[in-house]
Amino acid sequence: MENLINLVNKLQRACTALGDFGEGSSLPTLWDALPTIAVVGGQSSGKSSVLESVVGKDFLPRGSGIVTRRPLVLQLHRIDEGREYAEFAHQPRKRFTDFSAVRKEIADETDRETGRSKQISSVPIYLSIYSPNVVNLTLVDLPGLTKVAVEGQSDNIVQDIENMVRSYIEKPNCIILAVSPANQDLATSDAIKIAREVDPQGERTFGVLTKIDLMDKGTDAVDMLEGKSYKLKFPWIGVVNRSQADINKSVDMIAARRREREYFANTPEYKHLASKMGSEHLGKVLSKHLETVIKSRIPGLQSLINKTIIELETELSRLGKPIATDAGGKLYMIMEICRAFDQTFKEHLDGIRPGGDKV
Ligand code: GDP
Ligand code: NA
Ligand code: MG
Repeated sequence: MENLINLVNKLQRACTALGDFGEGSSLPTLWDALPTIAVVGGQSSGKSSVLESVVGKDFLPRGSGIVTRRPLVLQLHRIDEGREYAEFAHQPRKRFTDFSAVRKEIADETDRETGRSKQISSVPIYLSIYSPNVVNLTLVDLPGLTKVAVEGQSDNIVQDIENMVRSYIEKPNCIILAVSPANQDLATSDAIKIAREVDPQGERTFGVLTKIDLMDKGTDAVDMLEGKSYKLKFPWIGVVNRSQADINKSVDMIAARRREREYFANTPEYKHLASKMGSEHLGKVLSKHLETVIKSRIPGLQSLINKTIIELETELSRLGKPIATDAGGKLYMIMEICRAFDQTFKEHLDGIRPGGDKV
């Protein structure tokens, strides 16, 4: 049985490829109906570090200022064995095994769209990582929220970024990964501020607390981690990422993860929370949650997909066969994915109702 999260990945990519499908189509609705996890937070709050820790690899561009200027849709695929590699949707036949080349390609592909102008663009970059060390998961990395434009950027960039972030997280199917640094007051967290706007009850927001190791002596994050400072439906997860000095010294991810585990296990204040802290735990929680959300949406998605299949069949027969055009090829591809989806849904439903009995 194909993994549900991977199927949703394919469908999302296909919907994006068909972005200009035409008015009245079900596809935009279908895209909005697919659950995603978006990473939000202020600049330098630790978003890139969190993503890299979850993946267990260095691959994101770094630097000061607004480095992430396009959404990055990061699709993690767990493979049983073999060497890990990465692939971009815009270069489908090229396998990257050198992750510093991945970082360079993200930067180059950002510039291709924004023309090296430090402007932002809402056109996503799709990156897939295949590895035995990841959980199946899709995360969207968004530009960091900021308060001031830097030189070379228009004054409205601050508002443009906020609007782009909001356009992702306002969708009811978006799961928000809100990243806040522990060494700042939660009340001033950009992540919490915007998450609260679109999800006031905290029903689809996961709070991640970074930089716990950088808190002032004599203070700790226990109240924040226990949800006493800001309540969310899901437990807060604390992480300790690599510091800038660690990065400069090239401390690798394996060592960083081990150190993070030791930090929570050996700090008296956090000992009681240790099993629910850290990047590895975060990855597992998110993957499990994403799968649960997808499963709970199966009936609605299924009817939407069936509607889409009918639409696509109509469109394909209108185009005539054999399908020569690019549009036809894409339509055909998405229809195949829809069919696979329908099949997987049926299998999952059979799994829920053994022997086909009504629940
Ligand atoms: P982003 O702008 O939100 O993507 O933030 P980055 O992930 O690039 O992190 C900004 C800086 O904070 C980098 O120098 C990181 O090394 C550092 N940093 C992030 N998280 C932590 C953490 O948990 N502990 C420490 N000591 N430094 C961190
Ligand atoms: Na923040
Ligand atoms: Mg970043």
